[in-house]
Amino acid sequence: MKHVFITGGAGYIGSITVRRLLAEGMQVTIFDNLEVGHTETLPDESKFIHGDLRNAEEIDNALQQTKPDAVMHFAAYALVGESMQHPERYWANNVIGGINLLNSAVHANVQRFIFSSSCATYGTPSKLPITETTQQQPENPYGESKLMFERALHWMCECHGITGIALRYFNACGATDELGEDHSPESHLIPNILKTALGQREEMHIYGTDFSTPDGTCVRDYIHVKDLAQAHLLALQVGKTGAYNLGTGTGYSVKEVIDTARRITGKNIPVIEKPRRDGDPAELIAIADKAHSELGWEPRYSSIETILSDAWKWHKKHPNGYQETEL
Ligand SMILES: NC(=O)c1ccc[n+]([C@@H]2O[C@H](COP(=O)([O-])OP(=O)(O)OC[C@H]3O[C@@H](n4cnc5c(N)ncnc54)[C@H](O)[C@@H]3O)[C@@H](O)[C@H]2O)c1
Repeated sequence: MKHVFITGGAGYIGSITVRRLLAEGMQVTIFDNLEVGHTETLPDESKFIHGDLRNAEEIDNALQQTKPDAVMHFAAYALVGESMQHPERYWANNVIGGINLLNSAVHANVQRFIFSSSCATYGTPSKLPITETTQQQPENPYGESKLMFERALHWMCECHGITGIALRYFNACGATDELGEDHSPESHLIPNILKTALGQREEMHIYGTDFSTPDGTCVRDYIHVKDLAQAHLLALQVGKTGAYNLGTGTGYSVKEVIDTARRITGKNIPVIEKPRRDGDPAELIAIADKAHSELGWEPRYSSIETILSDAWKWHKKHPNGYQETEL
């Protein structure tokens, strides 16, 4: 049985991946500081270590104690706007914390490493759709921190003979029956639309209606979190080194997502149109052919209807997120 050490396993994508690995009979250790994650997501079957990646001794001890076969690294700060205001937090957590983890993984003789990277490493691409060879030119410290870690991972693999995969997620969304998206503050489109449908927000803000897209609003590639979890399992099994886009190749505009949410929820979802925000590219769409051919990955749950109806079921069941709810 494989033993996988998961940083950020109490967070949104990490917790759902934990469940996927446990369902395959794997042993899982979760390492999380619970700054953003939720204790309610921690399953009885896995070991939990409360610790912070920025504390080099803590992460080294955790890996020496557990000696896993593989590490999956989800833990990070992930708010683009915050990264523009406090880039130093992103260097400390995503870069220095990440490198503490990498050093300790090599020290503990871990052979496989899988990293949660992001389409934010591409910035505004000169050509669409985005392939793994599209130039990476991040436009904010968050994306830059992810790219810095990708480079560090690449050289650790070259120099220490471990295999390391960077999975570049596009827009993660959706939920399982048990687990869903509960960030505070919530910066993602779909949970905010659904909070508006629940009456917890008065209206949705659409930032920019004059982009060069069919309806003038930004177009993004939405990927169901269950498909992301499956990609992690496949990446673990394949044991290669490299970077893989995880998206569907189909984009939806903000207005299309809101219209679909109105149909699925049966709610009005009022919107207010606002000016563009700095640094929002008009369109981000992935080509994920490499993940299809090398990992055998096929997204199964990522139609926008399935994403929204799964997320809606979860939000209706957990209107306050994980607060005061029992799984
Ligand atoms: N959500 C998306 O759309 C998206 C897209 C691309 C990439 N990603 C990346 O995927 C990963 C997971 O995203 P998510 O939405 O599940 O995030 P999340 O914020 O829900 O989860 C991150 C987890 O990491 C933990 N953590 C953060 N810093 C830590 C530290 N120093 N030590 C220990 N634990 C720490 C938090 O407590 C939290 O449980 C992140 O690396 C993010 O950058 C997310």
